[in-house]
Amino acid sequence: MKVSLIVAKAENNVIGKNNDLVWKLSDDLKHFKRTTLGQHLIMGRKTFESMGKPLPNRTSIVVTRKENYTVPEGHYCVQSLDQAFSLGKKLGLEKVFIAGGGEIYKMALPQVDEMVITEVKAKPQGDTFFPELDWENWKETQREHFEQSEKNEYSFDIAFYKRK
Ligand SMILES: NC(=O)c1ccc[n+]([C@@H]2O[C@H](COP(=O)([O-])OP(=O)(O)OC[C@H]3O[C@@H](n4cnc5c(N)ncnc54)[C@H](OP(=O)(O)O)[C@@H]3O)[C@@H](O)[C@H]2O)c1
Repeated sequence: MKVSLIVAKAENNVIGKNNDLVWKLSDDLKHFKRTTLGQHLIMGRKTFESMGKPLPNRTSIVVTRKENYTVPEGHYCVQSLDQAFSLGKKLGLEKVFIAGGGEIYKMALPQVDEMVITEVKAKPQGDTFFPELDWENWKETQREHFEQSEKNEYSFDIAFYKRK
């Protein structure tokens, strides 16, 4: 089972503030949807709650230490990242996406095979960060640029990386 990570991060590694995103990037949301449709997304309980409800046509695997946490039918709740990976294997998945937030990215990174990073050209204030990476371990395979526009508050690149 391949482990892919998807994130939108700023130049200062900010990914969120007050349990929400810190930008309006319409083209990035479209990219996120395109990339993750039909897929299983592993996410922390805080990220799951920040979305209000599960993303349509995707399966959420929510990581929490809470014992009686419930999620809507068709989604899963697990109590560790290991349990999330075991579940993915049990379901016979070819791929799972690590979809945040900060705590889950940090915990999952050693096991991530590939990353899809929206690199936002901004340094916003925030309270949640993507971890520092050792870029020596990663090879960029593809990159696309999006200009700032009415739809996109900042310019950004969408970059793909594979672990070397
Ligand atoms: N820019 C992006 O691409 C992006 C993507 C996703 C999220 N975000 C942002 O990131 C922020 C949320 O991130 P966050 O770091 O605060 O929270 P998070 O990673 O979404 O969730 C943290 C929660 O995960 C559970 N957890 C963490 N470690 C665990 C472990 N070892 N075992 C079991 N459960 C564990 C705990 O849930 P319990 O407290 O229930 O035990 C913890 O409170 C928001 O601002 C969101 O908008 C940004």
